[in-house]
Amino acid sequence: MAGAGDADAMQAPLVLVAAMDRNRAIGRDNQLPWRLPDDLQRFKALTVDQTILMGRRTAQSLGRALPHRRNLVLTRSGQVPYAGMEAVASLDEARRRAGAAALYVVGGGEIYALALPHAGLLHLTLVDCAIERADAYFPAFDQGEWRPCWRAQHAADGRHAHAFEFVDYRRRPG
Ligand SMILES: NC(=O)c1ccc[n+]([C@@H]2O[C@H](COP(=O)([O-])OP(=O)(O)OC[C@H]3O[C@@H](n4cnc5c(N)ncnc54)[C@H](OP(=O)(O)O)[C@@H]3O)[C@@H](O)[C@H]2O)c1
Repeated sequence: MAGAGDADAMQAPLVLVAAMDRNRAIGRDNQLPWRLPDDLQRFKALTVDQTILMGRRTAQSLGRALPHRRNLVLTRSGQVPYAGMEAVASLDEARRRAGAAALYVVGGGEIYALALPHAGLLHLTLVDCAIERADAYFPAFDQGEWRPCWRAQHAADGRHAHAFEFVDYRRRPG
């Protein structure tokens, strides 16, 4: 996999936020395959007041623009599914629109795959389950290129059918 190169080092940080199961599954039938309120809460805390980038299919699945965030949607059509979203035609265009601010890449599978080689920071939620009939995945990534810098466990409980762990990874230099 390509590392974050000089061009990436000179741009605002690219940050990925994703929740995946033990097999890196992230979605099924264009929906999240679980309901984990405390993970959504963390997603909100990470992304509010930020610029987020999502693929058109993920944008469609949300049902509306996410409030209090600038919603960029990667699409070849030039069209966005909901008011309050902005179409972009490439990852570079999204980074230019974000300007000096970090760009938060929030899925889905196609967009994570495009962005991962350029990312410097990953906020992952590792969900302790194996989803059947998943059809969207986080890309395979080389753990050796990344250093875990923070983690926190969350047990299954009445509101969460699965246990999960938050793990932040920073790209190792070089
Ligand atoms: N677990 C999580 O953290 C998480 C987070 C987000 C989403 N998800 C899930 O992920 C699934 C959706 O992921 P997905 O991989 O199917 O779709 P996606 O990545 O959300 O969107 C794919 C779309 O992005 C556009 N696109 C892709 N590459 C492009 C490029 N190089 N240039 C311009 N546009 C490009 C195309 O839109 P056009 O067809 O309009 O051209 C393409 O159809 C859903 O199940 C969703 O719930 C999970």
